[in-house]
Amino acid sequence: MKAKDKIVPDPIDGLPAMVVGRWVTEEKHQIIKRYIDASWAARQKFNSQRTYIDLFAGTGRVKIKHTQTFLDGGPLAAWRIAQQKRGAFSDFFVADAHPGYLAACDARLRKCGAPVRSCVGRADLTADWVVPQLSKSGLHLALLDPFNAGHLHFSIIRKLAKLPSIDIVVHLSTGDIQRNIASGLQVQQSPLDNFAPGWRDVVRAQSSKQAMRSAFVQHWIHLVEQTGLQVCDMMYPVRNSKESTMYWLCLLSRHPLAEKLWRIACQFETRRLF
Ligand SMILES: C[S@@+](CC[C@H](N)C(=O)[O-])C[C@H]1O[C@@H](n2cnc3c(N)ncnc32)[C@H](O)[C@@H]1O
Repeated sequence: MKAKDKIVPDPIDGLPAMVVGRWVTEEKHQIIKRYIDASWAARQKFNSQRTYIDLFAGTGRVKIKHTQTFLDGGPLAAWRIAQQKRGAFSDFFVADAHPGYLAACDARLRKCGAPVRSCVGRADLTADWVVPQLSKSGLHLALLDPFNAGHLHFSIIRKLAKLPSIDIVVHLSTGDIQRNIASGLQVQQSPLDNFAPGWRDVVRAQSSKQAMRSAFVQHWIHLVEQTGLQVCDMMYPVRNSKESTMYWLCLLSRHPLAEKLWRIACQFETRRLF
């Protein structure tokens, strides 16, 4: 567990719940649910396999900071919205580096009847567990939702991108990226090396913080494009109650329909990063 993780038992089942800011359920989970809802009809065309994959799955329930409110975490919220329209996911894969969080998430999903398979481990390793279980003729939706950019090794995206029909929603920790760029340039190794290999060759130390971040993100977009996926230019800024952007949610996909549906999912907020 990271020192900053705050965990409390959910009174409903006694299992751990992660304490999170209001924006997690009001913004992040809303966008994911809206995208699942918007893409439901497209998903029905895939009889072989329709999967949901969350390699940073958490506990499955969250408690909203400064309140007594407990709500579904990402995987539970995704499963329940899909359940409202029967047949949305045929397979549900969850993984997390923390065994206790994953056990809670797995138990909660099972209780809801989800066809869950789970694996403890770092996402760069559990990607090798999940990919062989994904049908090339299936439609897959993956959420990559790490605490910080360094946990999101680019190899994960490279491996998932091998599937012909996969959409990946990525939590892009722009604040974390901005904080780490300048310090990363002064040392031999940085967590950002995992996130965007080769970034040191394109980001110049003398430019402004914003220019460095922009060059960094453009480099990451270029890496994604080399896998055959496109990064939708509609990036959703997840904001806290003080209106500060905490991170961006973005969609990686191959199909123009996926981008169209992502825009619909984000339509109650239409700002662009670039
Ligand atoms: C932001 S939380 C995930 C929240 C969840 N996706 C949701 O929407 O409710 C990040 C999770 O990543 C896990 N984690 C941290 N480092 C990891 C790694 N390298 N690989 C996989 N999971 C990791 C943490 O234990 C934590 O549960």
